[in-house]
Amino acid sequence: MILCANPAAQFLSYQSEIEAAVLAVMRGNRYILGSEVTALESEFASFIGTTFAVGVANGTDAIELALRALDIGPGDEVITVSHTAVATVAAIEACGAVPVLVDVDSTYFTLNPAQLPEVLTSRTKAVLAVHLYGQAADLDAIGHFCNEHDLALIEDASQAHGARWNDRRVGSIGRIGCFSCYPTKNLGAIGDAGLITTSDPALAEKLRMLREYGWRERYVSELPGLNTRLDELQAAILRIKLRHLDADNSKRRQIAEQYAKQLTGLPFGLPAVRDNVEHVYHLYVTKSVRRAELMDHLKSRDIHAGVHYPMPVHLQPAYKGRVRTAKSMVVSEGLAAEVVSLPIYPELPPESADRVIAALKDFH
Ligand SMILES: Cc1ncc(COP(=O)(O)O)c(C=O)c1O
Repeated sequence: MILCANPAAQFLSYQSEIEAAVLAVMRGNRYILGSEVTALESEFASFIGTTFAVGVANGTDAIELALRALDIGPGDEVITVSHTAVATVAAIEACGAVPVLVDVDSTYFTLNPAQLPEVLTSRTKAVLAVHLYGQAADLDAIGHFCNEHDLALIEDASQAHGARWNDRRVGSIGRIGCFSCYPTKNLGAIGDAGLITTSDPALAEKLRMLREYGWRERYVSELPGLNTRLDELQAAILRIKLRHLDADNSKRRQIAEQYAKQLTGLPFGLPAVRDNVEHVYHLYVTKSVRRAELMDHLKSRDIHAGVHYPMPVHLQPAYKGRVRTAKSMVVSEGLAAEVVSLPIYPELPPESADRVIAALKDFH
């Protein structure tokens, strides 16, 4: 069976390193926010190119904390996309702010900056740019808009660990970068984990306080905070995987090249890559107007494809009629019906990618 993502295969790649690190944590006597977390934070910050990183419990909390650290809350609006993981939008609501959703562009499937002026109000405080599928959103246009209107640019880089915009890593360009380390992510824990990046010392300190009850000093809450601490076990695992992240992202790019070479000319929309980015292919997303048939066909050959995502957030039952959107959301609504994610992960053997390609060529 060929899976769409395969975190267990990654565990096997680094098994001896991971098992040794996990055992060392278990034999120690500090299981939460200890030396593994501190080391991961400094290694991740230097990898991304920021001064600070703050470990948290998951990517949704990373976004909520980023917004809270910027004093965004009830009465404020945050602009983001509807074609994303629901977590992006749920995190905005979790801090009490109102999500305002715009469409994605039809080429790269990331935030359409042309719609930003249309949804801007006096309550808008930030734009949350999602680097979807492993590729940066248009950070020049979005950054320019944020500067012009005094808005905070926050990056949701949960699908783009290591990706570059020009020569900088995503997560280092906005005021704050947010990362999920869910097991299937490019940098994935064996459980839940998240990271926040910033080069602003005051924000870093506030983020550290907010993740643990608003404490600067233990048992004294200076701010109304949360409990969203990162475990030592997950930090120890992430430190190992971080050392291999660039090499693993290169392997993803090789598989993407293999797909692109072999699938060009077939009736599947292939991912478009901006000139000035390095894509890290968290997902390899194609399009088909006959998606259900295509997925059944792949399944009959033991190939599992995914759908990211089947319904834009503004049409999901919890949000329908309740969130404000740009006037036209046609791209997001069309993509939801057509996107198909092909198997991609660093350990996917080229022969398995060939089997996926052969199955696609046989789909009539
Ligand atoms: C774009 C995006 N944002 C946020 C999240 C939320 O991360 P988590 O599942 O770690 O809370 C995810 C992952 O599911 C994601 O893909």
